[in-house]
Amino acid sequence: MIKKTTIDQIFETARIEEVVGDFVAMKQRGVNRIGLCPFHNEKTPSFTVSPVKGIYKCFGCGQGGNAINFVMEHEKYSYPEALRYVAKKYNIDIEEDQLTDEEVQQQSERESQFLVLNYAKEYYMKTLLETEEGKAIGLSYFKERGVSDEMIEKFELGYSLDTWDAFTKSALEKGYKLDYLEKAGLTITNKKKSFDRFKGRMIFPIHNYSGKVLGFGGRILKNEAKAAKYINSPETDIYEKRKVLYGIYFSKKAIILEDNCYIVEGYTDVISLHQVGVENVVSSSGTSLTVDQIRLVKRITKNVTILFDGDAAGIKASLKGVDLILEEDMNVKIVLFPDGQDPDSYARSVDVDEFKQFITENARDFISFKAGLLMDEAENDPVKKTALVREIVQSIAVIPDAISRSVYIQECGNLLSISEQILINELNKLRKRKANAQRNADAGYDDVAPLDYIKGHPSEIGGARQEPIEGNAEPQERDVIRYLLSYGLEKISFPEEKTEEDEENNDTKGEQKVEEVEIEVARFIVEEIANDGLTFDHPVYNNIFSEYEKRVLKNKTPAQDFFLQHDDPKVAGLAVDLIFSPHELSDNWEERHHILVSSEEQTLKKSVERTVYSFKMAKVKQMLLEKREAIKDLEDGKTRDELLKEHYNLEEAKKLISRYLGRVLSPN
Ligand code: CTP
Ligand code: MN
Repeated sequence: MIKKTTIDQIFETARIEEVVGDFVAMKQRGVNRIGLCPFHNEKTPSFTVSPVKGIYKCFGCGQGGNAINFVMEHEKYSYPEALRYVAKKYNIDIEEDQLTDEEVQQQSERESQFLVLNYAKEYYMKTLLETEEGKAIGLSYFKERGVSDEMIEKFELGYSLDTWDAFTKSALEKGYKLDYLEKAGLTITNKKKSFDRFKGRMIFPIHNYSGKVLGFGGRILKNEAKAAKYINSPETDIYEKRKVLYGIYFSKKAIILEDNCYIVEGYTDVISLHQVGVENVVSSSGTSLTVDQIRLVKRITKNVTILFDGDAAGIKASLKGVDLILEEDMNVKIVLFPDGQDPDSYARSVDVDEFKQFITENARDFISFKAGLLMDEAENDPVKKTALVREIVQSIAVIPDAISRSVYIQECGNLLSISEQILINELNKLRKRKANAQRNADAGYDDVAPLDYIKGHPSEIGGARQEPIEGNAEPQERDVIRYLLSYGLEKISFPEEKTEEDEENNDTKGEQKVEEVEIEVARFIVEEIANDGLTFDHPVYNNIFSEYEKRVLKNKTPAQDFFLQHDDPKVAGLAVDLIFSPHELSDNWEERHHILVSSEEQTLKKSVERTVYSFKMAKVKQMLLEKREAIKDLEDGKTRDELLKEHYNLEEAKKLISRYLGRVLSPN
């Protein structure tokens, strides 16, 4: 762990314009610098660096953050990697916290496993290229399949001798401990005898994002019915299968350049595509896609194309993976290869242009793919057709972006000849159910992808406003956080509310002087919201609010920088976004309402109040909605009377807030 003091020093020293300047050419414009965005293709610059605020922001693609975020995003570094990079640039010595004995032990164990795996990789490569058996059996197998020398070298393919313990023996001789050979999944010990897991197999090393070997796939040579075609490394401390995609290390650059990632089934598909010159491809290694794998891809592109074998039996099972991709707000297309062909065999029969053309011509969006797939069964069967429609709407319902959803609804309506309104009703029902479930579940920090809100255009961020889900308070939540970040430390004043005691003890009675008390905006907001026990649905907003709550109560209201330099890139990114994006609620607001602006502070005060009351209003509406549902269902054990009473109270609260809102909305 890098010490907090070192991290602070790095943040203090790093100049955003210098860090970014190493990667992006920029021109001075006013106090800011501006250049072409490195994160998306553009011809006119919309990428802005603010040396004063220490942040960058692209108004084209929405990317933004501090210097460390930039390095993480641009170089695809982890947080500590980015810190180290910047520290090196400024010659800052990194101080690390003392690790506990246990941590040291764990770290050295991981290191040892990596070393062992790396030795194994080299051993298998050498065996393939330099031993008689390797050349005669292994190499000739690859040759037969048409795998080029270049690909063998690139993917570090190997061969494991058809002897019980050739590898294990060699590793032990070199001084690698049996314990680590076993832990890394290379050696199996059984009744005191140790032997090689991959005996007599072709070896496909599996690399992580940065090229380290985590494990292996071993393919059998002959087509024996009794032996498994592949034996793979077991799940280990360092090989967590759900987080790994085969080929990502070799393909990431092409995926970024093409802004699209092909997903295929097998090792050999990835290799053949590379050989033909299509390099933006990874493999899920025969299992269905996991959320972790999808997020690995999402770091570098939002576009995924799944290439299915013509005879893949598991297509329907794979549709789950499609939903997961949609849920991540990524675009997914599907290509089905003709019967009997897979990406591997097809790639070997064409050149790169033909291959790409085939993909372009055959890529279908998931709606028409799914509909087509299920339609065959459903035709002329109304019950099945209903199920099919529901199934498809379910997929659409998981898409976070409102515009994409409505486009898909339209298409689905056309395709299945069903009125759009019916589909929309069904969709809203599903989304409402989901929103409720989400609210009830203690929203995990990572389960929602808050970056989605950040990444889009500012107008997209307001997407929820264009098509509000009933009971969605996101826009109001966002405004509250924005005010906290932008004006938290400003002061606004209120007439002092005097208690009766005060009146009595007051010896300047009769003077009728109205005392004004000054209060920090952050304190006003925090007290208003916390006193009512209201919370935020959006996990990152909630997080930021809690930070304010904690600190404001200790009279330590955090400054903007605290969030702009936050350890959690999601928080830092959101802060940048909120500080930069225009205030939607107050846009021309004064003009529209013909307000005579008495003073700047007066305006701020009104906006703050308006923001807080609008938030409360949204929350009350949300609760009313839940109450109404509960009254309808009457399933949470409460009696109807209790619920009606609660509903009544909420209605009263709503009236009260309305009055407050009316006050701050009325011109005076
Ligand atoms: N797989 C596996 N175990 C098996 C079969 C398959 O782990 N018994 C995984 C492998 O990761 C494999 C992928 O599923 O790469 C796809 O399977 P398949 O198409 O059968 O394998 P290919 O790698 O395409 O091998 P080949 O082309 O040599 O048949
Ligand atoms: Mn295959």
